[in-house]
Amino acid sequence: MLKIGIILGSTREGRVSPQVGEWVKKIADGRGDATYEIIDIAKFKLPLLGEPGGDASGVGEWSASVASCDGFVFIVSEYNHSISGALKNALDFLREEWNNKAAGIVSYGSVGGARAAEHLRGILGELLVADVRVHPALSLFTDFENGTVFKPKEVQNQSVNDMLDQLIPWSTALKTIRK
Ligand SMILES: Cc1cc2nc3c(=O)[nH]c(=O)nc-3n(C[C@H](O)[C@H](O)[C@H](O)COP(=O)(O)O)c2cc1C
Repeated sequence: MLKIGIILGSTREGRVSPQVGEWVKKIADGRGDATYEIIDIAKFKLPLLGEPGGDASGVGEWSASVASCDGFVFIVSEYNHSISGALKNALDFLREEWNNKAAGIVSYGSVGGARAAEHLRGILGELLVADVRVHPALSLFTDFENGTVFKPKEVQNQSVNDMLDQLIPWSTALKTIRK
């Protein structure tokens, strides 16, 4: 069975990424085509990469979590037209753990988090992660109440399934070239 990590890409207090991640996991679990696991980057309390004096005790667990996955769904919020600093820092910590795997992106923001998602695609290219085309983009105005309570439009469920329909075969294929 493939293992797909659903990575929560924000860490701030009051963040909405756990609501979005749980929704994706529920849809994904209903498919029966992989083991889906939420990976919350906040849990690892990563220091800033390379900063002296930081507590790096969570880095090993972060590395093992990513290494154990065959593919990923990134839950991405838009911060100043890009991904959060926390997600960028977490991505930067690892290298081989990402290589030759596939990913889908689920983003949210005022315009669906589209600008953050496109930035993430560039970063994933450098990490040898193959990102699939279908991209569920959630609006803070129409898929959330007051920008905080997640109430996705029905059509978004199909979008998540369409994204996973691309992610699973790519994750399967790339597994064959990893050592
Ligand atoms: C520092 C910061 C910058 C933001 N910049 C943008 C932005 O450029 N575009 C946008 O659509 N939303 C922006 N937002 C709104 C966030 O997308 C929204 O608050 C979202 O809920 C953040 O994700 P989170 O709740 O998981 O942390 C910004 C929020 C923060 C905190």
